[in-house]
Amino acid sequence: MTAVLEDVRVLEDYLVMPEVEVAERIESAREALGKRVVILGHHYQRDDVIRHADLQGDSYQLSVMAAKADADYIVFCGVHFMAESAYVLGREGQQVILPDLGAGCSMADMANIDQVEDAWEQLREIGVLNSRVAPITYMNSTAAIKAFCGRNEGVVCTSSNAVPLFDIYLKEYDKMFFFPDQHLGRNTGAKFGIPLDKMVVWNPHEELGGNTPEQLLDAKLILWRGHCSVHGRFKDWHVDKIREQVPGVKVLVHPECTYEVVQKSDLNGSTSYIIKTVEESPSGSKWAIGTEVNLVNRLAQRFPDKEIHLLAPDLCMCATMYRIAPQNLAWALENLADGNVVNEIIVDGDTKHYANVALERMISMTETKN
Ligand code: 13P
Ligand code: SF4
Repeated sequence: MTAVLEDVRVLEDYLVMPEVEVAERIESAREALGKRVVILGHHYQRDDVIRHADLQGDSYQLSVMAAKADADYIVFCGVHFMAESAYVLGREGQQVILPDLGAGCSMADMANIDQVEDAWEQLREIGVLNSRVAPITYMNSTAAIKAFCGRNEGVVCTSSNAVPLFDIYLKEYDKMFFFPDQHLGRNTGAKFGIPLDKMVVWNPHEELGGNTPEQLLDAKLILWRGHCSVHGRFKDWHVDKIREQVPGVKVLVHPECTYEVVQKSDLNGSTSYIIKTVEESPSGSKWAIGTEVNLVNRLAQRFPDKEIHLLAPDLCMCATMYRIAPQNLAWALENLADGNVVNEIIVDGDTKHYANVALERMISMTETKN
């Protein structure tokens, strides 16, 4: 039987609705859709959105959840590269919806596939690829870059598995080319004792990334010049200041923070590592956390018996994560319940295939290491 599609509902109608009504409509649409839909939510989502998620996680956990999801529709409350990865890992015919297509990631936008392929060719021309070089991309990248890694023996990593994956690749390869977050790459390289002068930065706007052939031949890690503008707001002097202001405080940061901040911190790890660390800490413990403000505020509310500070006093909010608002979620879900798929995320077949190679390689290597 052919489904009769109702007219597509318009987002503008939701923008003027009272918040309570929006929340009720999200829940009714969810109920109507039942097991046909699963709502995934990243830890940085705002409170009024995350409360509707069926499953919450960091970018690694969400990719595993997407790979296992049985629902016809995955509604992704997160950013574009996460929804793309869910589509790549999802089963045939499953549809992935991003409630606001403007929810991107400024770091992922700092590398595009043409620049990456051009860089790879330049490395080939100067003989760097005569040794074994593995391209590794952070999850925060386009599906096309993930596919490039899949085609070239590389892998995807996230902040939660960068260490075990570096461990595997550093043993088997002479060098790694890491995109697009120079900080995660440098912080992880430092954990393996790679000296800073063996980690060079590739600026995509300069010939040879701004390096000499000798520097590139000598490097162990070539780091793409990308960064997160949210985590980049934490400075090493914030660490000094909070230690002065709050005696006994422990500084816990995401590895997207700069090398200097991570070096001065007590602990660093992915968003789920940050949550777990605070959850397991004793009552009365004091934390200064260097990551997105929505997550830090939620931790402070959940644990009133612990003293939780944002590492920097100014607002460190991921504006693109924030674009997923309850209004967009209600609009996307009610359209789905009517049989209209809005804001669908699709990746072409060849890119999907090779991006899947790199993502599945990540999942199997991570599971083997655990
Ligand atoms: P996680 O891998 O910790 O979820 O981080 C993703 C991200 O975008 C952090 O800025
Ligand atoms: Fe991208 Fe930074 Fe936002 Fe994470 S916090 S999604 S890296 S801009």
